[in-house]
Formats: sequence, C-alpha cells, structure tokens
Amino acid sequence: MSTFRSAAQEIVKELSVSEKAKLLSQIVWETTDIEKIHPSLRGFLLADGPAGIRRLKEYFDEDIYNTKPSTCYPSPSTFASSWDRDLIFALGEHMGLEARQEGVDTMLAPAVNIRRSPLGGRNFEYYSEDPYLTGELATEFIKGIQKEGVGACLKHFAANNQETRRMNINAEIDEETLHEIYLAAFEKPVKEGKPRMIMAAYNQINGEHCASNEKLLDFLRKEWNYEGVVVTDCYAAHDLAKGIRHGLTLQMPGEKEERIIAQIRELLDKGEITEEELDQAVVRNVEFALEAADNRIGQCSYDREAHHCFAGKIAEESMVLLKNDQHLLPLEKTAKILVTGELAVRPRFQGGGSSHVNPWKLEIPLEEIRKQSARADYLQGYKTSAGEKENQRLLSEVLAAAENYDAVVVFAGLPDLTESEGYDRITLELPKEQNRLIGELVKKNGNVCVVLSNGSVVEMPWRNQIPAILEAYLGGEAGASAAARILFGEVNPSGKLTETFPLAQKDHPSYLYFPGDRKRVVYGEGKFVGYRHYTALDKPAAFPFGHGLSYTEFVYESGGALFDREKNCVRMTLENTGSRKGKEIVQVYVQRKTEGESPMPRKLAGFTKIELEPGECRKVQIPLSEKNFYCYKKEIHGWKLQAGEYEIMIGSSVSDIRLRESVFISGETEKAERDHTLGDLIRIEGMYEKLEKAFTGHEVSLGFLKMTQDEDPLKAVSMGSLMTFETLKRTDPTLTDSEIEKILLDMNGK
Ligand code: BGC
Repeated sequence: MSTFRSAAQEIVKELSVSEKAKLLSQIVWETTDIEKIHPSLRGFLLADGPAGIRRLKEYFDEDIYNTKPSTCYPSPSTFASSWDRDLIFALGEHMGLEARQEGVDTMLAPAVNIRRSPLGGRNFEYYSEDPYLTGELATEFIKGIQKEGVGACLKHFAANNQETRRMNINAEIDEETLHEIYLAAFEKPVKEGKPRMIMAAYNQINGEHCASNEKLLDFLRKEWNYEGVVVTDCYAAHDLAKGIRHGLTLQMPGEKEERIIAQIRELLDKGEITEEELDQAVVRNVEFALEAADNRIGQCSYDREAHHCFAGKIAEESMVLLKNDQHLLPLEKTAKILVTGELAVRPRFQGGGSSHVNPWKLEIPLEEIRKQSARADYLQGYKTSAGEKENQRLLSEVLAAAENYDAVVVFAGLPDLTESEGYDRITLELPKEQNRLIGELVKKNGNVCVVLSNGSVVEMPWRNQIPAILEAYLGGEAGASAAARILFGEVNPSGKLTETFPLAQKDHPSYLYFPGDRKRVVYGEGKFVGYRHYTALDKPAAFPFGHGLSYTEFVYESGGALFDREKNCVRMTLENTGSRKGKEIVQVYVQRKTEGESPMPRKLAGFTKIELEPGECRKVQIPLSEKNFYCYKKEIHGWKLQAGEYEIMIGSSVSDIRLRESVFISGETEKAERDHTLGDLIRIEGMYEKLEKAFTGHEVSLGFLKMTQDEDPLKAVSMGSLMTFETLKRTDPTLTDSEIEKILLDMNGK
C-alpha cells in the first residue's frame, strides 16, 4: 500500500456522494476541477505514449494529430526487436523526461497485447507474439518511465487483439490459453513494473466487457493484488456498477458532472453498489492524484538533439537483417548505388491512431544515405497514389538505369494508412507496384537490397531472388540514419524478429478464426499462437521468430551441462568467429515432452543480448523464467509444474537451435484417478509395480494389467491399456468402490 493511501482515505471521508462521483469520471486528458473538490487535491494530466508523447495542443482538439512536437521514437514493434532490456528501460527514462517537461503525469503506455494475427491493425504498437518477451520488455519500459516520477498506464487489459469490432467483439478464449498467452504478457509488468494505472480494454472476454468483467478484474485485484487505478478505454464502461464492484475506478473520457452524479446516486439507491465499494474506487483515484502531485519533480528541460540521437540508437539496435546472401551488405561507401522507392524520400516511420506523434525532427532516408555515400543516385521507381501508367513509366526508368550500378537499394513498405488503430489490415501484401518493381529489378541487377518500412509482417513473394533484406520496421524520426549506418556498415545489425513472418497469410494459425463474425471471435488456435504453431508442426515460415542476421558469425558451445536446475539458468559459451564486433541475442526455449498426449508448445524462457569483439569468446549465463516450465491447468484454475522430461534448447532463433539438452524436472507427479486408463497410469514411474501389488486378490484386474505388456498390440492397447477402474469394476466383482478408493489412496501415497 502506498504512503498516500491513508491520506486518501481521510480525504474521501470528507467528501459528499456527488464529489465522489465526480472523481470517478474526471478526465479527458486533464482533470479540470479536482482542486475544487478538496484543497489537498491537484489535477492531473494524461497523454498517449507508446512511441513518444502525444500531447494535444488543445485538450479537446478535434484533430487528433494536432499535437505538440516531441521525439518520435521507433514503434514498439520496432524497439521490441532489440530484445534489449536496458535499452528499453532507458527509453522509458527518456520518455519520462519528456513527459515531465510537458507536465504529463501519466503516459498511456505501454500497450502489451499479443500480436495474435499478422493482420492486427495495431500490431505496430504491440511488442510481440510471445507473452514472455512482451512482459520482460514492457516491465523495463514501465520502470524507466516511473523512475522519472511519471506514471505508466499498462493497456489494453486484456485480449484486445484486433481492431475489427473492438468495441463489442466477444473474444471466446479457453481458460488455459487466456492465462498462458494473453494474461501472461501482463503479469510481470503488473507485479514488478507496478504501473500506476491499468487500462481495461474495449472488447469482451467470454461474454463480459473487460471494464466490468468479473473474472478478469477479480483476477487483477485478488490474484495479482493490483492496487492502482483501473481506467476504461474511451467509452468502454459498459456496466459501471459491476465494474466498480470488481475494481474499476475511473471512466475515460469523463462524463458531464450532472450525469455521473445522477448515475452514481441511482446505483447507490438501487443497491447496485455500496458506499464502501464507491469509496474503494474513489480512494484509489485520490491516492493516484496525491502521488502524481508528489511525484511532479518539476519541469525539466531535456536535450532534444540528444533524445533524437537516442531514438536513432534504438532504431539501429532494433532493425532486423533478414537476409544477406553473398555478403551484399554492408555496401562499400565508394560503390555506385541506385536508391529507389517513394519511401526513400517520403518515409513511413510510425503507425496511425492514438500513438501518433508529431516528430521533432524527421530524417529522410535518401539524405542519410548520401551522407554515407557520395555516389548515390535516386529514381522514384513507384508512386503509391499514382495510376498504372505512371507507375509503369517510373518502373521503366529504373529498369533502364539499373545495370549501371554496383547495387540497388529499394525502399519498400506499407503506405501510411495501412496500419492504424481502429481497423485491421486486410492483406499481408505490399502494394503491387512495389512487388513488381522489386521482382523486375532483380532481373537487371542481382545486387538488390530491399529496406522495408512496416509495423508488422508482410509477404515477400520475391524473397528467394533478392540477396539482402533489411526489416527496418517503423524507425521513428531518426530511423533513416540508423538504416543508413547499417547499410554502410557503421553499425552491425543486431535486432531479431519478435514475430513469425509466414510464407503466406493462409499459413498463419489465426487464419481461420480472424476476425470472427459480427459478435464473436473464437481463439480456435488456442495456445499455438505464432511460433508455437510453426514449431509444433515443423512448418516452414518465411522468417522465423527470433531470426536476425549479423555481419559477423557466432558459434555456440556447451562446454558441459547446459542447465543448472538449482540456479534455474543455462550456461554456455559464445564466440564471435567473424571479423567484426557484433551483438548476438541468445534465446532459450523449453518444451515438455509428452508421450501419448497432444504436444506441448515450445516456449521462450530466457534470452540475453551480448556484444563480442572479433575472436572474443565469453561464458554466458542466462536466467530462465520458472513460470515457463509451468502450464496452466483448468482443472485446478492455476499453474502446475508437471514432473517429466523437458527439452532445453538454446538457439539463434526458434528454428535455429544450436544446443539442446533433455532434463528431468521434478514437479507434481500425476495423481492416479479412477477414470484414468491403465495405459496412462503405468506411464507414471513406479505405477505398474504399485498396481500389480494392489491387484493381488483381484485376479481379473491383474489379468488386464498384465495384458498391457502383451506383444500383440490389439491386446496390449485395445484390451489392456484402455481399461479404467470404472470399466474393470464391471468385469471384476472383487473390485468394489471401496476397494478402488483404497487402491487410489495407496497409489497416491496417502
Ligand atoms: C485507444 C487507447 C488510447 C485512448 C486515448 C483509445 O482509442 O485504444 O490506446 O490510450 O484511445 O487516446
């Protein structure tokens, strides 16, 4: 409990019902008259912020893009590809400083929804398809911001994985998937990041809107013991009474005073909420306001140029080199280069909607390339808004010139309006004039490098013919110089994908279930989201999760046992065998082996980013997340560590596993139950012998047990292994219910 809790309780004791009501619904961006309610209260200010501060010039400005200039950092899908916890902590600090300068108390960031489908319109704003990676990085972001005295608002809780019908869609998710994937991304940010605010999502989960979802809110308050403010997404308070009863505290945006007062009075009169429940919500908001005021360390001025450079540093740590055949990259600074593509002069650097930032200083790719190379010419190549004829002319121009250059750099990507809050994408394809340009160009000049600007997955039909592809994502205002530094080798690329690039849209696990019908979306792929699906099926992807190349080479060596169970970490040695300094992201995956049961998903359980000089060899120790050995079981509504064989895999991507080890993890052994089959029971270590003993005097049952060992599979499997105590009981008169109970107690060690 914060030190402000008791002060808040004292203040709330002095308030009337109307004053309390006003405190439940006081914001658009800025609280207006909190001061008038109580002399100790000060208003507070919120601003959006997953990729930089979005501070509206006027609080009620209709033009949501009319914001004060601030540093436009790379989009979260970009910076998450750095896999760098320290860097993202520092990003939080930088944004925190900017927020302080603008007098912003809490930033509506980070957004940690899972990129369930590659079509998700807001994927650029989210971190990954993996909950562990998301949770690790978002926790650092929150800690960084809050270190500066500015609150973070973790959003959108939960399962807001699509924009299509986001305000009414019912996400039907089975309990295990909900916990293992969609809530898992929030757990560490809530428990360790301790954000001052959490935003409840628009959508419903299993029939109840998130802002009044009993199970969801109870889970947040009681299981995770979250004490802060829970705010609705805009207009998302569907059942205010239920929300308040289960821990909702604030509505966004605020309603007219008379309306909220009348509403709260009515809810109290009808007994839909009690005054204690009302007070609990108001106390949390007042506590928040007191803490925000106390944390207001004061205005600060930050060095805008330094923040711009830091934005570039993040971009260069995050861009992903997808392909580099015959070492086409880095380019020689003296080489004759043709740069083409409209995006080289009109860059795409951020997504649309509430995370949109007015950049302080926007870099242009062509200009940045020319700072690196005096021999770079430019031809437009395509124009997204132009028709077929004009695009044909632009294409011919490039084709005619292409042979005269040592290499061609094509800037391709998604047009501005393709990726935004409010709607999903309908295709993974790039605009056709871009695909045509790339496909034709490579026939004229084999040295083509494609630089992509997009917030999330695109299809690349030409990827086998093109030697070099740099996924630059949405690099923010300083992304252009970062890409140029990578292209010309000033920086060795070190980002890795936080999502799977499928070969085609139809390959994706969510394909059959996205975006659902008018009312509901069924999460039919279950836990097999993203790489969990591809690895379980051994299905090829265009580029797998965790993939990313470097200009140097890394060798993984084990030098002994990989896994230390006591310390719950892996140990190995990494060597840079190339000729350049570089960074590698070492990833650890775990997977429980199953016999006779459906496969368990492979899960990322640890990672680290390490920089090595050429020839340098270093011992690496990576702590693992204990939770990722556990699985959620609906039978117990909780997490369970199942005893058994686990495979520990260390790799450079999810499908480039370099070292593996099988280990036995002791945990809960399966309990024998009366409806388990003999086949499943005898798979538990020592169970056959126990049963053999228990069946003494139950000759028929003993016969079936022995049959499980028969050479004839029909007898062993169909007749022996399929029997349960219930079915044995029907053929063995000595096996009474009380006998079965005794046997089970004995077998389960009681
Ligand atoms: C978005 C939130 C955002 C809010 C305020 C909503 O439409 O979903 O992420 O914080 O608007 O701009």
